[in-house]
Amino acid sequence: MPRERSTLPLSLPAPSPGVALYRWLYDTLRRSILDGRLEPGTRLPATRELASAYGLSRTTIVEAFDRLKAEGYVESRHGSGTYVTQVLPEHLLQARPAREQEKLPHRRISWSSYAARLEHYQPKSARPIRPFRANLAALDQFPSRLWAQVAARRLRRVPPQLLAGGEALGYPPLREAVSHYLNAARGVKCAPQQVLIVSGALEALDRTSRLVLNPGDPVWMEEPGYPGAAAVLRSQAARICPVPVDEEGLVLERGVARCPHTSLVYVTPAHQFPMGVTMSLRRRLALLEWARKSGTLVFEDDYDSEYRYSGRPVPALQGLDRAGVVIFAGSFSAVLFPALRLGYMVVPPGMIDRFAAAQSVSTHQPPLLDQAILCDFIDEGHFARHVRRMRELYAERLNVLLECTREKLADALTISGVEAGLQTLGWLRRGLSPQRAAAAAAEQGIEIRPISRYAWGKPKTDGLVLGFAAVSPREIRLGVDELARAWKAL
Ligand SMILES: Cc1ncc(COP(=O)(O)O)c(C=O)c1O
Repeated sequence: MPRERSTLPLSLPAPSPGVALYRWLYDTLRRSILDGRLEPGTRLPATRELASAYGLSRTTIVEAFDRLKAEGYVESRHGSGTYVTQVLPEHLLQARPAREQEKLPHRRISWSSYAARLEHYQPKSARPIRPFRANLAALDQFPSRLWAQVAARRLRRVPPQLLAGGEALGYPPLREAVSHYLNAARGVKCAPQQVLIVSGALEALDRTSRLVLNPGDPVWMEEPGYPGAAAVLRSQAARICPVPVDEEGLVLERGVARCPHTSLVYVTPAHQFPMGVTMSLRRRLALLEWARKSGTLVFEDDYDSEYRYSGRPVPALQGLDRAGVVIFAGSFSAVLFPALRLGYMVVPPGMIDRFAAAQSVSTHQPPLLDQAILCDFIDEGHFARHVRRMRELYAERLNVLLECTREKLADALTISGVEAGLQTLGWLRRGLSPQRAAAAAAEQGIEIRPISRYAWGKPKTDGLVLGFAAVSPREIRLGVDELARAWKAL
């Protein structure tokens, strides 16, 4: 039962000139309620009393009371009058001040084993785009206006059915467009029914590992390799078995020798991350044959294969698979922009229903309108044009990096020319340690990473990973100047 207080003899200040009387009364009462002079449960004077005490019309008072009521400061109780509410709107609307939140007792939470495995994982945060950030497209060159036009056109004629949601496997026209693109450009052999739209290549791996791994199951990971993939696998309690990479890609015999029974193989055959090698055809065929015989699934991460500057494009591992052992995943992060959070998977026909079910019970589907906009962007030819333009731009940026380092850093660093991708490797001379070189660069605002950061054990070779795609030729030149200055002191 709410506390009830007797009516307060109200002493109101004089109305301010130029302010409507109902507004003055509303403000005055509201302030009195908020500063506690009118406590919760207090009965306000009757309208007739107030009218005669202050020489106001009853309409003015009713208007002020109505507004206070509408905003939740007072409430009428039938036949008994108007009272200050027990819970003021301010208390409902305002988040508790941070200090009050801090005072809340820390409950002991019984985390799941999944949560326990995430205890030391650092959530990703936005980092500035600096020279020589790896794995990032030239976002300054993204045709945002064109994207906005395509999006506006799509949103203007969006049918209610699209707003209602769609299939768990993704927007059917996008699945068709992706299937067509992968068959034509990546040598993937698939029907649109095998394509699943996901929120990026990492989600594809997350979904796959949930569906095919149990805690403790071994998974081959390239060494050095992509830490993002390792984090996904570790979160599922997979046991990571590092398998070295040489100039032909993942060394199959070493994997078989180290960990003969594995549940999954994670590979980046088109452009190994971070070493940049392309898996040879001989190795691809051997890996597929071994996977077929041993009944092992292979997860092919094709994260940035659109960008190939020289050499013959090698068709995807998936396109050579005759046994249905390859799960193929790709992404629009590197080719368009990472914030889009759209990617795709191609799954052997016998597995697609379980993937659809897993998608349906979790996110249901990545944002459908974004899928529709992307589909229009592809269908209208903008995607293919963007890839062609970026391929030329990146080849030019790579050349600028090669020339500048030859000119300014010849005695310290040799850069590998690469055939594909958004990053390359640098090898230090004069016994300079990659860790110290990267730390000195970081002090000048330059981002380079030692290869050792991508290794699970001690890497056989250690150099530096340098991205060349994300910043302009001018920034690349300035970045190389900064590096020369930073390393001179070492
Ligand atoms: C090898 C590799 N795979 C996957 C990804 C992530 O892809 P997505 O953004 O589509 O999850 C990256 C991104 O840097 C990557 O380097």
